[in-house]
Amino acid sequence: MIGHAGRGSNMLALAQNIKSDPNMTLATVIAPNMSAPGVIAALDLGYPVQHVPYEPKETYTSRLLEALNEVEWVCLAGFMKLVPIAVIQRFRGRIMNIHPALLPKFGGKGMYGIHVHEAVIQAQEKESGCTVHHVSEIYDEGEVILKATCPVLPEDTPETLAAKVLKLEHLSYFRALQKVIDGE
Ligand code: GAR
Repeated sequence: MIGHAGRGSNMLALAQNIKSDPNMTLATVIAPNMSAPGVIAALDLGYPVQHVPYEPKETYTSRLLEALNEVEWVCLAGFMKLVPIAVIQRFRGRIMNIHPALLPKFGGKGMYGIHVHEAVIQAQEKESGCTVHHVSEIYDEGEVILKATCPVLPEDTPETLAAKVLKLEHLSYFRALQKVIDGE
């Protein structure tokens, strides 16, 4: 599931890895916005994409559950909204998220995208990275599956740090998915 702005680089990296693993099938990409760059790229690559807009919000949960009907594992990628509780309950232990910092630091409300890297630099952290974690009812607080780290250098800006962390994310998400599937 990718988010509305949908650059989708994590989704595309994951999808590519899944496609090249003979034991896995990419069931669906779920997108709230069909004109997001990541969605256009996914369609170009022939990936199955389902459009599940946030509106009307009264039916969002049921439409999302319906779109996830054939799915065993769910990976959120750049998905900035709260996942409906019914979806978390149905996929408990099988729904995960990637966050561009070392949780529990720099997580929670307002901590997404470039804001995370701005906060890391502001706090003069020596190290940052990404965290793949299970999704629970509390934002960014599910059990950690894996973390990968990189140094924060004095010359780093939020943008250079974001680029470094994004590279780590692309390497980490599939590894984390394999880890939970293998029950490690
Ligand atoms: C990624 O850095 C991801 O970790 C972050 O948004 C970016 C999406 O990029 N997610 C969050 O901040 C969630 N709290 P992408 O669309 O290229 O994958």
